[in-house]
Amino acid sequence: MQRRSFLKSIIAAATGPMLFNGCSTSFLACRKINIGVIGFGRIASTMDVPNTIKYLDKCRFVAVAEVDAKRREYGKKFIQDQYRKLTGESAAEVKTYADYRQMLLDPSIDAVMVCVPDHWHAIIATDAVISGKDVWLQKPFTQTIEEGRILRDLAIARGTVMQVASWQRSRPQFAQVCELVRSGRIGNVVRVEVGCGLDKPGGSSQRQPIPENLDYDRWLGPTDPTQPYNETRVHTQDLKRIFTRPGWIQLEPYGWGMITNWGAHQIDVAQWGLGKDDFGPESVEGTAEWMPTSNGRLWNVHTKYDLHYSYNAGKTDVNVSHKYPMGIKFIGEKGQWLYCMRGATATPSDPKDAKAGRMMPLMASDKKLLEPLAANSPYKVHTSNDHWVNWLDAVLARDPSMTVTNASIAQRTATACNLGYMCMKLGRKIEWDAKEEKCLTVAALPLIKPFERGDYNLSRAYKAL
Ligand SMILES: NC(=O)c1ccc[n+]([C@@H]2O[C@H](COP(=O)([O-])OP(=O)(O)OC[C@H]3O[C@@H](n4cnc5c(N)ncnc54)[C@H](O)[C@@H]3O)[C@@H](O)[C@H]2O)c1
Repeated sequence: MQRRSFLKSIIAAATGPMLFNGCSTSFLACRKINIGVIGFGRIASTMDVPNTIKYLDKCRFVAVAEVDAKRREYGKKFIQDQYRKLTGESAAEVKTYADYRQMLLDPSIDAVMVCVPDHWHAIIATDAVISGKDVWLQKPFTQTIEEGRILRDLAIARGTVMQVASWQRSRPQFAQVCELVRSGRIGNVVRVEVGCGLDKPGGSSQRQPIPENLDYDRWLGPTDPTQPYNETRVHTQDLKRIFTRPGWIQLEPYGWGMITNWGAHQIDVAQWGLGKDDFGPESVEGTAEWMPTSNGRLWNVHTKYDLHYSYNAGKTDVNVSHKYPMGIKFIGEKGQWLYCMRGATATPSDPKDAKAGRMMPLMASDKKLLEPLAANSPYKVHTSNDHWVNWLDAVLARDPSMTVTNASIAQRTATACNLGYMCMKLGRKIEWDAKEEKCLTVAALPLIKPFERGDYNLSRAYKAL
C-alpha cells in the first residue's frame, strides 16, 4: 500500500462514525474493547494476551497482525483456545493480517497491543495513534530518542490512551520504595545502584534460506535489508519454543541490549523514585565491553557495563551496572537504604533468574524505614495492582491520565536508557539538557535519529503532528 493512500485511509477510518475512540463514555459502557494484537511472539503469547484476555467483561481479542504466517495462525488458534477455555466458545472469530496497516483500517478495532521487536515500535505505534486506536506498547518505548519524542507528542496531541509495558510500576514493592524515597525517608538520595543484568554472546552469522512463512523484508522494516537471514537473527521457527528469547534482542540495530531491555524496567523505577518522570539525567559516563563476534557468532550488543548517570546537578549518582543484582537500591546521605526487586517472581525474560526466590522483593537497611506512608500522604505515587487491567480501565474511561506508564513517562525512561547506550557506543561522556530534551554532545547526534528505510519511516507521524 502506498504511504499517501494509507495516510488518507487511516485518517478516514479514525474519523468514521463507528470509531470507539471518538465516542462518548456512555457508548463505551455499552460494549467491550475490541483488541488487535500486532506481533504474536514470545511476549504476546506468554504475557500480554494471557494477562488481558481473562478480563472478559472488559475486552475481546478480535485480530492478529503478524509478518510470520506460522505465528499468525498460531496467534489466532491461541486466542480461540483461550476463549474455548474461558467461555466454552467453539471457534471465536479472529481476523488475521500480514500487514498491520490493514488491521488499523478496521474501525471496529478500538485498541491494539504492539508486541513487536524494538526497531518497529515507533512506526507501528505512531500509525496506531494516527488511526485513532488506543495503544498498549511493549517496552522500550522506542528505539531512538527522536522516535520517542514524536510518538509521545503525537499520543498526547491525539488523546491516545497509552500504556507502556514497564509493568514494575504496577507491583507494590516498587511503588512503596519509590514513595518512601520521595517522602524523604532516607533523606537526600546520593546514590542509586541499578542492576540490569547481562547478555551472553551467541547466535550464528551463517546465511540460511528465508522460511517461506516469513516476510523477512518486512520483519527487517526500517533497518538494513541486506542482512542475511539466520533464525538466530529473528526468532525461533519452532512454535513449541515460541516462549524462548528471540535472537534479535541481543543484536543491534534491533535491540540495544540490557541497557534498553531491562533498563526500561529498572532505570524507569530509579527515575520514578527520584521524582524524575518528567525530566532526566544531566549526563552519563562509564565503561562497557562488547560481545565477541568471532567464530561466526552473530549477537553484538554490550556485555559488562558500569555507567554513572548524574542527576540533581551531580548530587545523585545513578550507577547502572551488570554487577548488581536485578533490582534498584536507593542510598541516602547517611547511608540508609531502601531496595526493591522482583524477588521470587520469575519472568518470561528471566525464567531462570538465579536470584529469584533468594532475595526479598523489598528490603531496607532498617526495617523501620519500610513503615508505609499514610493513605493521604502527598508522596503516594500513581500505581495500580494490575498493569494490563489498568490500561483496559483507562481505555474504557477514555482517560489517558489513568495509565500508570503513559507516553510521557515511558519516553523519559527510554531517553535515559538511550543515553546510556550512546555513552557505551561512543565510549565517551554524553551530556544532556533534560529540560530542553537536547543532546549537548555533538558526536552523539546521529544516534538520536529515527530508523528509516524507504516506506518504513515516520513521515506519516511528522505530517500528523
Ligand atoms: N515487558 C516485558 O517484561 C518484556 C520482556 C521481554 C521483552 N519485551 C518486549 O516485547 C516485545 C516483543 O518481544 P518478544 O520477545 O515477544 O519478541 P518475538 O520476536 O518473540 O516476537 C515479536 C513478534 O513480532 C513479529 N513482528 C515483527 N515485525 C512485525 C511487523 N511489522 N508487523 C507484525 N508483526 C511483526 C515477529 O514476527 C514476532 O513474531 C519487544 O519490544 C521486547 O523488547 C518486554
